[in-house]
Amino acid sequence: MDQLTITRPDDWHLHLRDGAMMESVLPYTAKQFARAIVMPNLTPPVTTAEMAKGYRDRILAALPEGSDFQPLMTCYLTDDTAPDDLAQGHADGIFTAAKLYPANATTNSAAGVTDVRKLDPVLKRMAEIGMPLLVHGEVTGPKVDIFDREAVFIETVLTPMVERHPSLKVVLEHITTGQAVEFVETGGHNVAATVTPQHMIINRNDIFKGGIRPHLYCLPVAKRERHRLAVRTAAVSGHPRFFLGTDSAPHTLGAKESACGCAGIFNAPAALETYLNVFDQEDALENFEGFASLHGPRFYGLPVNEGKITLRRESWMVEEDIDTKSGDKLKAFMGGEELGWRLVDA
Ligand code: NCD
Ligand code: ZN
Repeated sequence: MDQLTITRPDDWHLHLRDGAMMESVLPYTAKQFARAIVMPNLTPPVTTAEMAKGYRDRILAALPEGSDFQPLMTCYLTDDTAPDDLAQGHADGIFTAAKLYPANATTNSAAGVTDVRKLDPVLKRMAEIGMPLLVHGEVTGPKVDIFDREAVFIETVLTPMVERHPSLKVVLEHITTGQAVEFVETGGHNVAATVTPQHMIINRNDIFKGGIRPHLYCLPVAKRERHRLAVRTAAVSGHPRFFLGTDSAPHTLGAKESACGCAGIFNAPAALETYLNVFDQEDALENFEGFASLHGPRFYGLPVNEGKITLRRESWMVEEDIDTKSGDKLKAFMGGEELGWRLVDA
């Protein structure tokens, strides 16, 4: 097969940032995807419908001419989120979903939730109205080893939470472990996961290959090889509760190549092609459309996109250094490497 035509895909987990950075990275996503779930971890975080509406307007205003890309907004949950306000924002079509960041788990999460049990009234309401909860699944605190944080979160926080709220739709975001795969596979129809390109491609050795590789550092951090294989196998399997979420998370070169570098991998420039390359390597091209375009909307209860896109078998090299409108530079994931598929311009 040298050409693949599929329903237009969506990105179910994306960091666009704001201002000049957002204007610089948005075109990459808008070119490949019809919609994206936009993460709310700005400074300050997007905690109200009014803030989300303003942010959505800024994204729409920054779109390239002619683009019909649709940002789907999320609410950043805090200890103070009011169930009524959240439900109103959802009813008004501003919030598609809400995001749970355990306090201090990752970039811009200081205002996150300190104890998930405090959220029970919010989660109860979300379950009633069918609003999905998106979860950054890591425990925080110095006692738990960084490579165990996802597995410990699933065992001590997520499993009890899902038992307390059995009908809540939950997306475990950017999964990195065999335990996360098992959690989804053995969970109910209302439990799903997103998978990033990097977590199908790199393991923790890659972060230290020949020296420290700050551009391969993201959270949750890549794990052992057996976990990479478990995540990769699940993603290409055709299972309807695993779907595409890039977690593209741009940080400037200076913020990445630093004594205390930020977590986040900027994969937007070639995200779709990077995923497809993996599906091809795994001999699973027939499952690509489900992962990229069908499973996500079905889980969220949204219509599948109407248009189609075509990818062609063609060897090309991903651009490595990306300029931004603020003069800062970004490094792209897979930059300088060859991919075997390329999106055909519409
Ligand atoms: C994300 C960011 O930079 O906003 N970083 C990351 O490593 N993935 C936050 C997140 O999704 O954890
Ligand atoms: Zn993220």
